Amino acid sequence: MIDTHTDIKDLSFNFPAFNASGVWCTSNQELSGLGMSEAGAIVTKSMTVMPREGNAKTRMVFNDLISVNGMGLPNHGVDYYCASVKQLRSFKKPIIASIVGFSESDIDLVFEKVNKQPFDGIEVNLSCPNVSGKSVFAYDIPLSLKILKKLRTQSKKIIGVKLPPYNQRGEIQEMAEGLVSIGVDFATLINSHPLGCIINIETESMMMKPNMGIGGLGGAVLKPIALAQVVLFHHFSKGKIGIIGVGGVETGKDIYEYILAGATAVGVATALWKYGPSVFGKLKYEFEQLLIEKKVKSLKSKIGALRFI
Ligand code: DHB
Repeated sequence: MIDTHTDIKDLSFNFPAFNASGVWCTSNQELSGLGMSEAGAIVTKSMTVMPREGNAKTRMVFNDLISVNGMGLPNHGVDYYCASVKQLRSFKKPIIASIVGFSESDIDLVFEKVNKQPFDGIEVNLSCPNVSGKSVFAYDIPLSLKILKKLRTQSKKIIGVKLPPYNQRGEIQEMAEGLVSIGVDFATLINSHPLGCIINIETESMMMKPNMGIGGLGGAVLKPIALAQVVLFHHFSKGKIGIIGVGGVETGKDIYEYILAGATAVGVATALWKYGPSVFGKLKYEFEQLLIEKKVKSLKSKIGALRFI
């Protein structure tokens, strides 16, 4: 048996791949499906103060290369997930609450509730692209750091933040250095690109309904963008905080690339939408085979081990 274990402080992942928040994690049934799979952790859907239906359908579309989602945060509300967590603990893997809000006070309220429950970590989603008229919090870096600084003082749990893709190195530097100085434990890089779409040439219409058919772009095309964010974030944070890489993970090789780039673990989104939780069995097999082939003895020594030429 090969040791594929990695950790972010007290969060220990037997296998460093699990769901990215948003996919297969809205109902107790889905969350249990992750529990029973080879996923190394369970991350909840981003939860809001009150339950939400989300946007009208069709709100998620695919082609071979990409996915576009305009879900609009359908979720059962924070109280539902707080009631689920005790039962999910029987799966003996880290359980991470993803939280979101439309205002600072919303975020405070949801945080206060999950902080009292036996979640192992809290991921603050500051990058949801799909709520009409609201901007992505994380593009306001000082505001994001202010919010996270306050939350940090209120909890001893592992706290992370989910970020969108940035366009400039300076933004990644400012965020990475800010998070290190606050004592945030991990960053999840990256949420979907906020503005993507798929056009159906036969009907000459958008494929997706909400928000003029434009929503969060994910899938294979996101991987090079996400990898670059991980490399730069790891560089600017000097490896001092954990990184969960998200974007186009479909194979064991993809996981290994993210590890080399500086990620401690990866989140799987589009491939999980397409294939369901059995995708983690496939990923685990491919990843272990790759580690055997490459004669990797210590996976942890490979985190951020990428060579620059
Ligand atoms: C949704 C999409 C996201 O990318 C996200 O981070 C949270 C929620 C959504 O539309 O439901």
